[in-house]
Amino acid sequence: MKIKNICCIGAGYVGGPTMAVIAQKCPQVKVTVVDINEHRINAWNNKDLSKLPVYEPGLDKVVEEARGRNLFFSTQVDQAIDEADMIFISVNTPTKTYGKGKGMAADLKYIELCARQIARVATTDKIVVEKSTLPVRTASAIKSILDNTSNDNKVKFQILSNPEFLAEGTAVTDLLNPDRVLIGGDNTTSEGKEAIAALVNIYADWVPKQRILTTNVWSSELSKLTANAFLAQRVSSINSLSELCEKTEADVNEVAKAIGMDSRIGSKFLKASVGFGGSCFQKDILNLVYIAKTYGLEEVADYWEQVIIMNDHQKRRFAHNIISTLFNTVSGKKIAFLGWAFKKDTNDTRESAAIYVADELLSEQSQISVYDPKVNAEQMYTDLDYLNTRSAEETRNGLLVNQDPYEACKDAHAIAILTEWDEFKTYDWQKIYDQMQKPAFLFDGRGILDIPPLEEIGFVCYKIGSSNKNL
Ligand code: NAI
Repeated sequence: MKIKNICCIGAGYVGGPTMAVIAQKCPQVKVTVVDINEHRINAWNNKDLSKLPVYEPGLDKVVEEARGRNLFFSTQVDQAIDEADMIFISVNTPTKTYGKGKGMAADLKYIELCARQIARVATTDKIVVEKSTLPVRTASAIKSILDNTSNDNKVKFQILSNPEFLAEGTAVTDLLNPDRVLIGGDNTTSEGKEAIAALVNIYADWVPKQRILTTNVWSSELSKLTANAFLAQRVSSINSLSELCEKTEADVNEVAKAIGMDSRIGSKFLKASVGFGGSCFQKDILNLVYIAKTYGLEEVADYWEQVIIMNDHQKRRFAHNIISTLFNTVSGKKIAFLGWAFKKDTNDTRESAAIYVADELLSEQSQISVYDPKVNAEQMYTDLDYLNTRSAEETRNGLLVNQDPYEACKDAHAIAILTEWDEFKTYDWQKIYDQMQKPAFLFDGRGILDIPPLEEIGFVCYKIGSSNKNL
């Protein structure tokens, strides 16, 4: 079966880049990305490619090539569903904020709405692909909704799981050259096998066949949660050691290098930091913890929950370290934040460590000034307002946003590096030092700066995971 028409519901950080690359690599397939958020769709259609709603290196070029040729962004959800042979569901699956499983389970209301909409609209057979990250066994719920609420009894649905492993900041290269593509489906029936083959064929246009892995649906769904849990666990593991390094004069970067050269451990994802952020790690681990709990597997749940506990601790301890180093008071003191995004090369701020560090410091009445090359002021205020710790007015009085890093750091008592943007390494640090209050403190929460030259200038430095006798 050859797919001619793809629809993707959800034009976010996953739906947008993923479909742009499919459209670029499969010019024979029409790809329509739909969303109920008109503002987002307008931004995807913006002639000025610097205004796309998702910032990813290289994404503008991919969109430029395919948009208007075989890649379309639209708010006409019903029409796109009806025309498609294959429908990707790529809507958000946040942690539930209400009811049973509040603060832990995945909120599947957007997924269910999509399934009901597909069932209502579809007049021809559809392959429905779970692109969103979902709890294991969601496919059976989707199948049940599709089969039981379909307007047309003759329409047949096949459900595939095709989780996305791209990382924000490297989405385009990850999509062009994935370690693997995972496709789960019903491999016990000929219709199921046909659906799997149809999706394999799409990817086979640019991904080597041996990297396209097919499994049953449940393994595929669970593998995505497992991958994120393992990655986050590595970060929490090295972060837990960063605190021990600070006490013992060991250096976490040296430890990470030493263990990473062991091929059984491997070198990636061993960078100590102020804590992981992003929309996925926390929510997916909590989701895993919740699933384990619902099966009564308390030890399994506790084991994975510790990854989150460690991460919360790391963010809090970074903030408390700033407060205690600044002579136990930051009240009225200006503290400059370099970076707000949860990592470099993205404008995504969801669950960014910067939000939580800012929240702690604002509670101590510090004056924060932030510079981030890709995040706008409105987003930063929205992030803090969401925590509900203080009034919107207090937040706006306590936190100012600067377009210029030197202005952000001027007259500050301390600088905190919250995101590992490359440009921070190239600043004129002497100039920054000259315009700061003294002693000029620098807290490198990402371990990106070379400390000895900064100490030579006069900075008093703290770097995650290494002890400093001057502090
Ligand atoms: P997002 O929040 O950026 O985008 C989701 C979009 O879906 C929003 O624009 C929203 O308006 C739209 N939407 C929601 N309900 C809709 C409906 N009924 N009809 C039409 N549009 C609807 O989310 P993001 O980051 O793209 O994540 C999507 C899924 O992909 C999540 O399940 C996430 O866990 C998963 N994922 C995310 C990764 C990431 O790095 N952000 C990586 C891999 C997977």
